[in-house]
Amino acid sequence: MPSVVIVGAQWGDEGKGKIIDYLAGESNMVVRAQGGNNAGHTVIVKDRKYTFHLLPSGVLYPDKVNIIGNGVAFDPEGFLTEIKKLEDNGFSAGNIRIDQRAHVIFPYHKRIDALEEESRGEEKIGTTRKGIGPCYMDKIQRSGIRVEDLIDPEVLKERLALQVPRKNRILEKIYEAEGYDMEVLYQQYREYGQQIKRFVTDTTKLTHEALQAGEKVLFEGAQGTLLDLDLGTYPYVTSSHPTAGGFPVGAGIGPNKIEEILGIVKAYTTRVGLGPFPTELQDATGDAIRTKGKEFGTTTGRARRCGWLDLVMLKYTARVNGLTGISLMLLDVLSGFESLKICVGYEIEGEKTTDFPASLKKLGKAKPIYQTLPGWSQDLSSITNFQDLPQEAKEYMEFIEQYLEIPIKIVSIGPGREQTIVREEIYRR
Ligand code: GDP
Ligand code: IMO
Ligand code: MG
Repeated sequence: MPSVVIVGAQWGDEGKGKIIDYLAGESNMVVRAQGGNNAGHTVIVKDRKYTFHLLPSGVLYPDKVNIIGNGVAFDPEGFLTEIKKLEDNGFSAGNIRIDQRAHVIFPYHKRIDALEEESRGEEKIGTTRKGIGPCYMDKIQRSGIRVEDLIDPEVLKERLALQVPRKNRILEKIYEAEGYDMEVLYQQYREYGQQIKRFVTDTTKLTHEALQAGEKVLFEGAQGTLLDLDLGTYPYVTSSHPTAGGFPVGAGIGPNKIEEILGIVKAYTTRVGLGPFPTELQDATGDAIRTKGKEFGTTTGRARRCGWLDLVMLKYTARVNGLTGISLMLLDVLSGFESLKICVGYEIEGEKTTDFPASLKKLGKAKPIYQTLPGWSQDLSSITNFQDLPQEAKEYMEFIEQYLEIPIKIVSIGPGREQTIVREEIYRR
């Protein structure tokens, strides 16, 4: 039962897509378990760029099964657009499977997402406006519509007949916005249902069977630990569980089926959207990282906020995920800085701590305590051996490993598939 969970250890966009694509090469199955098309995962193969939002990042390999699990918020419109793009690029969508239990995103979810953000004013979260939060709200409230309902025209009609008037009342009375025509929505979504029908099945069974047969299963995290609904920087989070603990529920497997939990860590820190960020650099250094790392959102195009690596935060995310290894990403972006800073503690209202505070108020006041390490000037992007990396880059990594007490198993020195240095095999068997 070789299985690996890939989890974002910061605020998302750590480079999960690149590593999924890399490891998918030796896997049989790739499984998404939470989030939806709020994710933006980039894969670069032979200088061609592919971005995936709802599709698992293993779809470039024709022989891998790619699963959209029960915990995903499923946008049929987004899905159909993505598979069209995939097929236009010469790839097959034939091995994609969608779980019957996944909840469906409807236009009213997206609309409410946007209207809610506007109504919050200064307090807005900075969501991707893909309807993720409102879709999960319906799920939690037990009024959601699932993929199995979408593909059954009769059930879909019944469910929409109940939902649309309720949503219209909310839209009209709370947001003073226009409602939806139930019949128009029904016709449109019935058509989507028929188009996606061929992909729909009980994916929990497929995953179970693959694990039982000893196949290699890769679980693809979206978002990042600090965007987790429970463990992240609430309320500036997403509405699902991107942590390792979210996988058993979102993919319908037992927790004992997970062998390896690989944390994807950017060599510095970024955040898109609002909320506290202790090591943020609102200066020329932050701008330099943004430009060099091309730090602009894959889904929304927004400029990502950039800052130094924060080990206080990573110690926390390593703990709540139970990380067994790290893949350190975008190390090449740090070439050319005379010195590099790493946050090793916070000072909050005059007190020093190495604990990541749960209180947002405290986190907002946290002043980073930095350790300064020497930088390096060499370009790393074509290095293929760990030994050939500059001494200073090795010391930077050693410092991280010692602080976190977790090995860096993969080092990524460029966005391409081949720009990956594996120090330790990820699948144990
Ligand atoms: P994800 O959401 O975690 O999959 O990450 P994104 O795809 O949103 O953002 C990561 C960005 O970094 C993408 O543009 C990748 O192509 C790029 N990337 C990934 N690994 C590396 C790396 O090692 N070096 C550089 N320079 N870019 C990388
Ligand atoms: P990947 O998988 C970075 C952020 C949004 C916002 C918050 C809530 O590419 O790493 P939502 O639309 O989910 O309700 O927005 O979460 N966010 C992400 N930030 N990477 C992502 O995904 C994200 N998905 C959501 O910017 O702050
Ligand atoms: Mg992303």
